[in-house]
Amino acid sequence: MAAVVPSGDAPVVVELGPGTGSLSRAVSARMPSAGRHIAVELDPGMADYLRTRLPWLEVVEGDAAELDQLLANAGVGSVDAVISGLPWSIFPADAQHAILHQVGGMLAPGAAFTTFAYLHALGMSGARGFRRRLDENFDEVLTSRTVWRNAPPARIYTCRRPHR
Ligand SMILES: C[S@@+](CC[C@H](N)C(=O)[O-])C[C@H]1O[C@@H](n2cnc3c(N)ncnc32)[C@H](O)[C@@H]1O
Repeated sequence: MAAVVPSGDAPVVVELGPGTGSLSRAVSARMPSAGRHIAVELDPGMADYLRTRLPWLEVVEGDAAELDQLLANAGVGSVDAVISGLPWSIFPADAQHAILHQVGGMLAPGAAFTTFAYLHALGMSGARGFRRRLDENFDEVLTSRTVWRNAPPARIYTCRRPHR
């Protein structure tokens, strides 16, 4: 998922739902030193945990459904990659759509959005609806092979060219 982080210049990379920060470390490993790595986390306790454990991470506490406002407050107008660990399949359809719409609105031309779905949950209605909404929101949606080494196994979606 971190492969969408540009390896040069000074990119702005946004992570949604960083949780305990396991993905944040992989993103950070690719981040050019001049870039900004911003993590948007809804849960205040998790946000505090991240600030303590990953002091190099720019943690923004808030709802990904308000991404444009949160990033505007951070002085960011567009981003070079969005990487999501959000639990999409348990979100209602309108929340999925609202967040995807926000993500699409923030991506710079050529920028990518990545997220994942657990293999065991692909049949859930929330996961099937989410997959449809990716197509509704992006011109290109690429699905990886199953990553069996992940626990639990998962597939990665890489999306580009949002429908504005
Ligand atoms: C499945 S966990 C992320 C797992 C992460 N990869 C890790 O290693 O811990 C999902 C995270 O998304 C956060 N979250 C849920 N809804 C959110 C929202 N609307 N905006 C931002 N963060 C949200 C949760 O608080 C949680 O920390």
